[in-house]
Amino acid sequence: MPETIIEIRNLSVWYGNFHAIRDVTLPIYRNAITAIIGPSGCGKSTLLRSLNRMNELIPGVQTTGEVLYQGQNIYAPGVDPVSVRRRIGMVFQKPNPFPKSIYENIAWGVRINGFRGSKAELDAVVENALRQAALWDEVKHKLHESGFSLSGGQQQRLCIARTIALRPEVILMDEPASALDPIATLRIEELMQALKKDFTIVVVTHNMQQAARVSDYTAMMMLVEETRTGTVIEFGETQKIFTHPSDKRTEDYVTGRFG
Ligand SMILES: Nc1ncnc2c1ncn2[C@@H]1O[C@H](COP(=O)(O)OP(=O)(O)OP(=O)(O)O)[C@@H](O)[C@H]1O
Ligand SMILES: [Mg+2]
Repeated sequence: MPETIIEIRNLSVWYGNFHAIRDVTLPIYRNAITAIIGPSGCGKSTLLRSLNRMNELIPGVQTTGEVLYQGQNIYAPGVDPVSVRRRIGMVFQKPNPFPKSIYENIAWGVRINGFRGSKAELDAVVENALRQAALWDEVKHKLHESGFSLSGGQQQRLCIARTIALRPEVILMDEPASALDPIATLRIEELMQALKKDFTIVVVTHNMQQAARVSDYTAMMMLVEETRTGTVIEFGETQKIFTHPSDKRTEDYVTGRFG
C-alpha cells in the first residue's frame, strides 16, 4: 500500500451561505501525483485550496471536517496557517512571478523564510531550485533579468522553482499548464513526473489526456443535488478511473460524453 501523507476527512467548505463542497473524504499518497478532475464549478479549486488553508484568505469562508497532514489536523486550534503553507506549497494557474529578477524570485522567499547562509550558499539554493525545475540551462546567463522577461512556460517553471526552493513536502497545482502552449505543457508534465521523486503533487486539471498521462491517482468531483454542492464521487488509480470507472458519471465525464 502507498503511504498516505494527507488524509481528508468529511471536509465541507462554505462561501458565506453557499455550500461549495461537502463531505469529501480522500487520501493523498506520498511521492505520487493525484489529479482532481470534474466539470467547471464542482469545487476542484476549493478542495485544493483547503489542503493548505489558502481558502482562509477569502472572506466569509467556513471549513468543517479535517485535513490530517502526517496525522495532524491542519485546522486544529493553534496550528499556524503560514507554517502549513510552508510545508504544503502552491502553484497557480496563471504564472505569477514577483516583479523581481529571476534570481530574486527564488532568493527572496528563501531569505524571508529564515535562510542565514552565505551568498555562495544562497546562490547554490537558487541554482538547485532552477535545475530541479528544469529551467537552469535557459536562464543561467541572465539570472538578474526580470522574471517577466521569460516566456509563459518559463515563468511557470520559475514559479515552480520558487515553490520547491522552500522545500515543501506537498505541491498543490491548480491547472498549472492551462495558460500554456502544448510544448510548454508537455515540459510542465515532464517536470511533474521528475518532481514526484522528492515531492507529493496534487494537480487540478481540465485536460483529461493530461490527467491520464501525468497522474497516479485520480479524484473525480461532481455537483450533486439541487443544491449544486460539489463532492468527490470516485477516487482510485488513474488507470482504473480512465478504463474501468465504477461510477457511470465518471465514465461519461472521462470519455467526453458529459457537459
Ligand atoms: N471566492 C469565492 N466566493 C464565493 N463563491 C466562490 C468563490 N470561489 C468559488 N466559489 C464558488 O464555489 C463553487 C466551486 O468553485 P471552484 O472554483 O472551487 O470550482 P472549480 O471546480 O475549480 O471550477 P473551474 O473548473 O471553473 O475552475 C462555484 O460555485 C464557485 O462559484
Ligand atoms: Mg478551479
